[in-house]
Amino acid sequence: MKGFVCKVCGFVSINGSAPDKCPVCGAPKTSFVENQNAIKTAKDEVKLSEKHTPVIVMERKCGLLGEGCTDVHVKIGSVEHPTLPEHHIMHLDFYLDNEFISRIILTPEKLHPAGALHFKAVSGKLSVVELCNIHGAWIGEENI
Ligand SMILES: [Fe+2]
Repeated sequence: MKGFVCKVCGFVSINGSAPDKCPVCGAPKTSFVENQNAIKTAKDEVKLSEKHTPVIVMERKCGLLGEGCTDVHVKIGSVEHPTLPEHHIMHLDFYLDNEFISRIILTPEKLHPAGALHFKAVSGKLSVVELCNIHGAWIGEENI
């Protein structure tokens, strides 16, 4: 899948253009490189996809904030990805309707390759892009 990749922090713009400024690290537009294979999907590498494709689970009623909040839980892989110093998930980037909204940074060993956010949005396409330090960026998508 095509994207514009920030050479500084690995953020991938998925809205079809490079931003004026990276929303994660602030790097200028000149730091972005267009890549036709910026993000992998199950179609690209079937064998690797089960440990890399973000799996998104939504709870319509949030246990913390109650009504008006949708919990979005994400785990990396239908089979859990390793969290070893030499092989781990570096971050999860969340997008709503192809626009960046948040990054969760993960460190190896003490955390599962997973994260959660509390959404105000009542509709839209949610995308999560994870970055594996060895196998690159993978995307999962669900409608809120
Ligand atoms: Fe990996």
